[in-house]
Amino acid sequence: MNRIHNFSAGPSALPQEVLEQAASEFVNFRGHGASLLEMSHRGKVYDAVHDECIEDLGSLLGITDDYAMVFMGGGARTQFALIPSNLRPTGAAGFINTGRWAQGAVDEAAKLGEVRELWSSVETGHDRVPEQGEVACPQDLQYLHYTSNNTIYGTEFQYVPDSGDVPLVCDMSSDILARPVDVTKFGMIYAGAQKNLGPAGVVVLVIRKDLLARSRDTLPELWNYQKIAAKNSMLNTPPVYAIYMVGLVAKYLQRHGGAAGAWERNQRKAASVYGEIDADGFWTGHAQVGSRSYMNVTFRSPSAELDKAFVAEADAAGLSGLKGHRSVGGLRASIYNAVPEESVATLVEFMKEFRRTKG
Ligand SMILES: Cc1ncc(COP(=O)(O)O)c(C=O)c1O
Repeated sequence: MNRIHNFSAGPSALPQEVLEQAASEFVNFRGHGASLLEMSHRGKVYDAVHDECIEDLGSLLGITDDYAMVFMGGGARTQFALIPSNLRPTGAAGFINTGRWAQGAVDEAAKLGEVRELWSSVETGHDRVPEQGEVACPQDLQYLHYTSNNTIYGTEFQYVPDSGDVPLVCDMSSDILARPVDVTKFGMIYAGAQKNLGPAGVVVLVIRKDLLARSRDTLPELWNYQKIAAKNSMLNTPPVYAIYMVGLVAKYLQRHGGAAGAWERNQRKAASVYGEIDADGFWTGHAQVGSRSYMNVTFRSPSAELDKAFVAEADAAGLSGLKGHRSVGGLRASIYNAVPEESVATLVEFMKEFRRTKG
């Protein structure tokens, strides 16, 4: 079977061994005579899948008893509205605006209450994130929100911003578990699964338990973090299959060195692509060097025509998903956790050859 080298920004590559396990269990789940898709979420079989996923993800992330893990549907963007609904009953929320998704979080929160944009990279095409200390966090904020990896622009925070005593809320949709993080620095982390965790359809939330008390009873039930957490994410039918797949990805990561193992591989992968980008001036990176992402590498060739030729020729050679986002143009290689090192090596060879023949 020929599988492509998949550099899609999301939904994106999943580990082949995970896909194979899911395929083998699809029709008759672990000998229970039915697919997991056909089973009640209130039954023992799904219960075990659900709890194991929470346990494995929790241990990979290193979460403590002070945090609750919650699964929801609706994608990461639904959280742009639910976070202010739950965590900002009164007062203002602060934002670091590093691009489209960060802006989306500002816009949704602004519909529901007071926002303060503390920093923005819009003037320079979102080509960087702030340096540590560049953003002062007013201590009267209800929370400070930022996006750790900016999927579209290929920028990423290499540190956790210091928000003082203000709870820090992070959209980690495109770099969760790409490296070890100290969860205790965060009030809340959330991530749509479809890049580093599994398939689309589920968002993973890690919320400091004391913050759950901010959810008011007047919120609709299924928007209410406290109520959903109290029911172990089973207030209504959870996205069972997506959660099962996230659980398989968690087990896969555990077999391969956890977040630290992923980080070692991610550093090697990113170094080889950026090494080629910096080789001789043929390629231009979009992100400033200090803000470069380990997950999404954004770059361009000397012309839009050559970019187009690159995408077409790469596609013909089995390297897929390399077109840049329409708002940035150029090229983008998404090299998430599940993109094998061999795929990245193949890409770098292809880039070298392209530069040799077109440069
Ligand atoms: C960092 C980030 N946040 C949010 C989103 C939106 O996620 P969803 O489509 O799950 O709403 C994306 C999608 O690419 C993203 O990269």
